[in-house]
Amino acid sequence: MGKVYVFDHPLIQHKLTYIRDAKTGTKEFRELVDEVASLMAFEITRDLPLMEVDVDTPVTTAKSKVLAGKKLGIIPILRAGLGMVDGILKLIPAAKVGHVGLYRDPKTLQPVEYYVKLPSDVEERDFIVVDPMLATGGSAVEAINSLKKRGAKNIKFMCLIAAPEGVDVVKEAHPDVDIFIAALDEKLNDHGYIVPGLGDAGDRLYGTK
Ligand code: PRP
Ligand code: URA
Repeated sequence: MGKVYVFDHPLIQHKLTYIRDAKTGTKEFRELVDEVASLMAFEITRDLPLMEVDVDTPVTTAKSKVLAGKKLGIIPILRAGLGMVDGILKLIPAAKVGHVGLYRDPKTLQPVEYYVKLPSDVEERDFIVVDPMLATGGSAVEAINSLKKRGAKNIKFMCLIAAPEGVDVVKEAHPDVDIFIAALDEKLNDHGYIVPGLGDAGDRLYGTK
């Protein structure tokens, strides 16, 4: 079964409070999501393999470590996932970015796929699927399905806020996928929104409401 990690780092928790705040405007919201995505990327990359190299310091030659060159792919679920991409790329600039376009039908709450574009070497990469919200779990499950159908094998899912219902749905559908969360909230409301949550992530990022 996939593991669930809730990041309790004080900086992440502090920034998340202002992300939740209904008074936070679009500009600041976008900046905070970007910052939290960077901090989460720092935590999520803990297990990246290293290799030893020789480096000439001004004093002598030292044995030191560099990343072993694992190929990574970041997959934002459009559109709100886009808000997390730049923050991650600041730490992992060599990662490739693919896109999965999904929207949640407001009546059925089922995800509807409208766009998929992945790096060509899907089978060789490890992927991090990103979306600020994991609510019913439908979008995350569908995005991961989409990647697996095209040959992806090693996938992590990272979000800012998750509902327990959504976490269970992803664990059930994709037991091989670890889930990384900044905050695990209480529940979903009757409209499939996370409570207390942050509202509609896409609208808050792009000022569309
Ligand atoms: C939001 C959010 C997730 C999805 C989560 O996107 O960004 O993708 O809902 O809900 P779920 O877990 O119940 O599937 P939305 O469908 O509103 O699309 P948008 O990003 O284009 O606004
Ligand atoms: N999508 C959002 O943007 N917010 C929620 O609370 C649930 C789904």
